[in-house]
Amino acid sequence: MRIVAIANQKGGCGKTTTAINLSASFAQLGKKTLLIDLDPQGHASFGMGVETQKLEESIYHLLADRKKTESQKCIVNFKKNLDIMPSHVLLSTLEQEFKEMPNAVLRLNEVIQSLSSHYDYVVIDSPPSLGFLTFSALRASNRVIIPIETSSFSLVGLNKLLSMIELIKVKLYHTTIVSGLVTIYDKRVRYSQLMLQEIKKCFNENLLETVIRINISLREAASFGKPVIEYSRYSSGAKDYLKLGNEILNDNKTRNLDTFYRDAERLISRSRSTLVKFAIHCPEARYVYIVGDFNDWTLDDKSLLDRGGNGSWQKSFTLKPGKYKYKFVVDGRWIHDPDNPKCEDNIFGSYDSILTLE
Ligand SMILES: Nc1ncnc2c1ncn2[C@@H]1O[C@H](COP(=O)(O)OP(=O)(O)O)[C@@H](O)[C@H]1O
Ligand SMILES: [Mg+2]
Repeated sequence: MRIVAIANQKGGCGKTTTAINLSASFAQLGKKTLLIDLDPQGHASFGMGVETQKLEESIYHLLADRKKTESQKCIVNFKKNLDIMPSHVLLSTLEQEFKEMPNAVLRLNEVIQSLSSHYDYVVIDSPPSLGFLTFSALRASNRVIIPIETSSFSLVGLNKLLSMIELIKVKLYHTTIVSGLVTIYDKRVRYSQLMLQEIKKCFNENLLETVIRINISLREAASFGKPVIEYSRYSSGAKDYLKLGNEILNDNKTRNLDTFYRDAERLISRSRSTLVKFAIHCPEARYVYIVGDFNDWTLDDKSLLDRGGNGSWQKSFTLKPGKYKYKFVVDGRWIHDPDNPKCEDNIFGSYDSILTLE
């Protein structure tokens, strides 16, 4: 039995869509599959047409007190080869209930292992947070898929998820394969293309080859309570998720997780950078430089500003979050930025301009 957790603390990146449709693809490919909805919001249950409030017993009861609950009672059959263990709104209280119990994070794993004779694949949809539930899902998994949507920037927070996987490795001696999955990809948007290139460069072999394209059928299928294969089998969504199912079934590659962490950290820190444009109005000046913490206060070609129209001079730098001091050098005279009221004294008895990026 293989256990695949879908995790990313960011909401809206395609976790639930991936959990539902990957499960349906496994089932289509002949694998007995259980989808576990571990998000108290119950989106995966809804997307599979299951009303969570109708259940007397659920994954919540199983995790809270396994002895009294029969796991079979918490499972709903969707179709051949595909079952779902729906969510329960009380799942969100588990963290509080288990605060004092160090091994509680292993409970989900125990529940899943007790079902091992029934399933080839278990897919877990996790909530958009990094609490007890996601931690339990990661601990139970042999494989983690991190959906990364390219329509807007979703890498923020990824490093926290990675630290959590690292924590599981170090503290619980459990290693799981981690792969990125590009989702909601729109090739008509240039930004998406750039993102995809960047992600490919950094994730290397840790990025799944299948790219999930943006496709309205995926959204519609969920609102009809069906996986996309059942709703529109010739849609690109159905094709992409079937391809993903095949890719995972046939994936025997081993990966180096340490390289992955390093590369991902690099990608994340680059993604947090902002393009900052410095400008000063000096119509009379012959040349203007900018020097500061971000260029080691060096006067050279790279710190020379470009002359714009109307006597303005400007230059852009890509900067990471932090606090920066800088000055302009106008025809050899060092001056602070007249348009920036934030200044600090320096050891030379004058002022430096201050820029703080969150
Ligand atoms: N490939 C896709 N194309 C179009 N819409 C998508 C795609 N993947 C997800 N969506 C839609 O984006 C929204 C967020 O997706 P969802 O899977 O619920 O994300 P998460 O579980 O990470 O919050 C949903 O409305 C979903 O239908
Ligand atoms: Mg979700």
